[in-house]
Formats: sequence, C-alpha cells, structure tokens
Amino acid sequence: MSKKIILGIESSCDDTSAAIISDGYILSNIVSNQKVHQKYGGVVPELASRAHQQNIIPVVDTAIKESGINKKDLSAICFTLGPGLLGSLLVGSSFAKSFALGMNIPLIAVNHMQGHIMAHFIKEKGNKNRFPKFPFLCLTVSGGHTQIVLVKSFEDMTVIGETLDDAAGEAFDKSAKILGLSYPGGPLIDKYGKLGDKHKFIFGNHKVGDLNFSYSGIKTSILRVIENGLDKNSKFIEENIDDLCASIQHTIVDILIKKIMKASKEKGINQIAIAGGVSANSYLRTRLLELEQKHNKQVFIPKFEYCTDNAAMIAISGYYKFLEGKFVNQSITPNSRFSL
Ligand code: KG4
Ligand code: ZN
Repeated sequence: MSKKIILGIESSCDDTSAAIISDGYILSNIVSNQKVHQKYGGVVPELASRAHQQNIIPVVDTAIKESGINKKDLSAICFTLGPGLLGSLLVGSSFAKSFALGMNIPLIAVNHMQGHIMAHFIKEKGNKNRFPKFPFLCLTVSGGHTQIVLVKSFEDMTVIGETLDDAAGEAFDKSAKILGLSYPGGPLIDKYGKLGDKHKFIFGNHKVGDLNFSYSGIKTSILRVIENGLDKNSKFIEENIDDLCASIQHTIVDILIKKIMKASKEKGINQIAIAGGVSANSYLRTRLLELEQKHNKQVFIPKFEYCTDNAAMIAISGYYKFLEGKFVNQSITPNSRFSL
C-alpha cells in the first residue's frame, strides 16, 4: 500500500508553519516566528497577515525539501480553518486551496484546538511514541484558549470546562506587560520565575466553582500589588522581578492543576494530557509530573516544539481525517470562531 503523505499548513496567529507527515511519522516541521509584534506588546492582526504572505511560500518550500519527499507524492493538503485571526487564516487557507487545486489532491480543514490535542499522536522515527489512550482529559492552554477537553476519539472531543474571560496564556502575557516585559511574556515569566520565591506575593482568590476558569480578577490583583509596591519604592519591579514572576506563575498554574484534578475525579479518568503554548511552561510541567508521582495519574506532555503553534499538529490531524475520507471543497472559508 502506498504511503499517505500529508502537507499541513498553520497560520492562525503569528507563526507561519508547514509540516510533512508520512503515515503518521513526522518528516519535517518548519515554523517561522514573526518578530514584528514584539514592540507592540501583542499581535497586530494586519501585520500578522502581511508577514504570513511573505513567509508562506519559503516555509512550505523548506518543509518539502527537508522532508526529502517529492511534492508529486503528496496525498493531501490540510490547513487550519480556525479559530484564529481572520486575515491570518485567509493566507493559509487560500494557499492550501490553490495548492490542492494545482496538484489535484484532496483538501482537509482542521480545527486549531483539535490540532493542539492531536499533537500527542505525532510519531517520530526511533522514539518510543507513548500515546494517551481514549478516553483521556486534555488541558488545552494557549494565548487564546483555556479548556478542559474530554477526548473520546480522534474526532469526538467535548469541552467540559473553559475560561469565562482571559486565557491562561493571556494572563501570563498581560502580567508580563504590567512588569514591563516584552511580548510574548509567558516564556520570560517562566525564565525569571525559576529563580524566585513563589510564595512571596499572593494574588487574589479564584472563585469559579465548576470546571470553568477566570483569570481577570487575578490580573487586577497583580496590578494592585505592583501599583502599591511602586508607590513605596520606584525600583519595586526590578528588585523583585524573580519573586514576582515566580508568584504570578504559581498563581496561574495552581488554578490549572486544581481544575484538572477536579475534572479527573469527576469523570473518573486518570490519563491527563496537556496541549497549547502554555504547556511549554516548566513550572506547569513540574507540577504535572508531581501528579504522576504522587497522585497516580498518567500524564502526557508533548515535545516542546509541538506545544506552541506548529503545522505538525495540523498535519497529524489531517492524516487521521484523510483515513476517514473527511475532505472539504474549494468553497470552504476560514472560521475565526470555529469551536471544537
Ligand atoms: O498555542 P500558542 O503558541 O498560540 C496560541 O494559539 O495562542 O500559545 C501562545 C501562548 C502565549 O500566551 C505565550 O506567552 C504562552 O503560550 N507561552 C508560555 C510559555 N511559552 C509560551 N507561557 C508560559 N510559559 C512558557 N514557557
Ligand atoms: Zn495555538
């Protein structure tokens, strides 16, 4: 039987990415980050779509070259339909549509959040490739989403809890902005937080009782602590940066851990996976591994490069849709609010 070779395209936010997957095995995964947003403290949608337009052809070209395949061998092309920024999604989807038309191969549309979860099923040659078994719980934490998803199959995914306001990544990025750190601030809070005391500052209480989350109150509480500190000492932030980062990180992550434990108990499911950009956070990873060691959970954490936005996760989702014959036609248009 001939190999199923899939080209995946991801362009939902500020990363342009292309990847090739062959029978579920990764051959290449190229990600081009857009540096242009750093000085604005957040992603500027118009600049993001322009940068995608510049990057998409070289990124796809490199992904094909690096994979060692001939583009004539592609079985299908898949792309992120949403959720995401409309202008950014349009670049990836238009490219994918014309490529599929030109090559006369099927076109597959993928939900970005499903892609983050599917990152757990990317196979690597020479690796043990340990995967979660269905059903499992996935904590999906990114710049735009914070969800607990009950995953029953490659296609059957139900959101059982989500944020009522800011996403966890947003909480990291907004806190970093208050501290004067550049965008995206999540990785910087992680870096400085490693050196600080996580109990030095206390930020608000999380009062949402069910499996949902709320981060807006915490953000206000962080702002108050910092304003009060600066009133007394103009060097408050620089003198306390490590402790502030450690305490902010502890506050955000503690909520995630408590909610996933609650979901695990309620659903009687002990397999816990994590997905999305915030799963790159080292303190969250440490806390999750503690669940494995002390609470008898099985924890699944994707490789670092499959946590933040990438096309490998889109290509693996496309591969399983290909096996089911789930194709779309040329009339498809991006859906910036596409839910799971
Ligand atoms: O999934 P992703 O790459 O893009 C979205 O779909 O949003 O997630 C980006 C988010 C940003 O908020 C970024 O600050 C956060 O993930 N992030 C981190 C870390 N690395 C990325 N947050 C905390 N610690 C990190 N190490
Ligand atoms: Zn994402």
